[in-house]
Amino acid sequence: TTTAADFLPAHRDIESLRTAAASCQGCGLYQHATQTVFGDGPRDAKLVVVGEQPGDKEDTAGEPFVGPAGALLGRALTEAGIDRREAYVTNAVKHFKFVPPERGKRRIHQKPSRTEVVACRPWLVAEVEALRPHLVLCLGATAAQSVLGTSFRITQQRGQLLEWDVDAAGVVTDPPAVLATTHPASVLRARDEDRKRAYADLVDDLRAVARALS
Ligand code: URA
Ligand code: SF4
Repeated sequence: TTTAADFLPAHRDIESLRTAAASCQGCGLYQHATQTVFGDGPRDAKLVVVGEQPGDKEDTAGEPFVGPAGALLGRALTEAGIDRREAYVTNAVKHFKFVPPERGKRRIHQKPSRTEVVACRPWLVAEVEALRPHLVLCLGATAAQSVLGTSFRITQQRGQLLEWDVDAAGVVTDPPAVLATTHPASVLRARDEDRKRAYADLVDDLRAVARALS
């Protein structure tokens, strides 16, 4: 089967990866999305932030986390003492997956399948290998399971400082630390009475990231 691995360039710096990813057909998601939304941020970033997949706004803009979840993420990072502009921000899956919208309605995001996450993983691994960050922050189960495997449980292991699992396709030397927390979109979706706590828990985990980076 075809995956992103079939589209990886021979020379893998962030610019050549971004260029190659623009024409990726490693799974079916390129067919309906507007464009590949590759990672974005400084080449010397010590922190790589991994979301699930681009949303409606990101699909149109071509940049990760520019919609409502991105605004909440930026606010939470600031509160934890982390400057978003110093982080490289990307997603486990690089094309927007959505339910076909009714006329005039906005497109509703659909969770990527395990097959799509696995197909797209070579881009994420290549980004991390090119950047060599100190820490990879996974937002939500999709990102965490792409990096740490399908047995990873956010509810039980969020906020823990772990290490990137070294595998044949993965990071070979000097693996970065990994920490997983909830996705900012889940804070936005939380019921009114739960939202404050969900946000505070997210900021707590981001403070652990700030400590690990200092
Ligand atoms: N949610 C994500 O997981 N990633 C984005 O880029 C935007 C929203
Ligand atoms: Fe390629 Fe990933 Fe897009 Fe699928 S989602 S086409 S693997 S970039």
